[in-house]
Amino acid sequence: MSRRNGSYGIDAPYVPAMMAAGLLVCLGLMVFADVGGLWITAVAIAAMLALYLHTTLRGKFVVWRELLDTQAWRGDEEVLDLGCGRGAILLMAATRLPHGRATGVDIWSSKDQSGNAMEVTARNAEAEGVADRIELRTADMRELPFADASFDLVISNVAIHNISDAAGRDRAIDEAWRVLRPGGRLLIADISKSAQYQRHLRAHGIDSARRSLGWRTWWGGPWMSTMLVTATKPAAPRP
Ligand SMILES: C[S@@+](CC[C@H](N)C(=O)[O-])C[C@H]1O[C@@H](n2cnc3c(N)ncnc32)[C@H](O)[C@@H]1O
Repeated sequence: MSRRNGSYGIDAPYVPAMMAAGLLVCLGLMVFADVGGLWITAVAIAAMLALYLHTTLRGKFVVWRELLDTQAWRGDEEVLDLGCGRGAILLMAATRLPHGRATGVDIWSSKDQSGNAMEVTARNAEAEGVADRIELRTADMRELPFADASFDLVISNVAIHNISDAAGRDRAIDEAWRVLRPGGRLLIADISKSAQYQRHLRAHGIDSARRSLGWRTWWGGPWMSTMLVTATKPAAPRP
């Protein structure tokens, strides 16, 4: 999907709304109350807002396209996206699956993504020409409705941190690992909690790597950057 035909909304829309409100307050104080010295604050907020909007509208697509390009695809994989939302990453994966299937699970929270709804994701799948390769399920990622070892690739983008408690996030990682096939790969991109995911995997003896996805996935600045946690499930021993 080099050109997007779907409409993918804004992640956590209350965040840029708060930034825009802060910017308006600064500008209002400078113009109408003649408060001096606020221009540095106004420029900083404007820069954060611009970075946030870039990440949600463009950056995450560019970075995930590159990330998916680096995976070795057969084209018949079963892919699972945890917290797929309107399908930004799910549908990009689906384009690589002429003989496979991409499944997205979500609870469709419009606080976490604007206009979030299963029907919207289904419409986006039609627009991207991959409706026949996807399946959408309403499910909590802490309790996945899939058998063990069902997927070749489990992906997730800025979704797991929305689970408020650490035990719940651990449970989501356990579920992701459970449904992964031997030889399958885990790609989890997230903001603040990615170190916890890696610690949890390592505590279970699972080798994993963690790296930054760069400025294109900064949600307002480097203090809110997206980190990628990757792991490969050991292949089953040959009989
Ligand atoms: C910031 S959005 C990101 C959506 C999508 N991954 C993307 O990159 O466009 C986070 C998503 O996680 C979903 N989500 C939050 N908690 C969840 C849970 N416990 N189980 C499944 N999905 C969840 C939200 O509904 C939302 O769609």
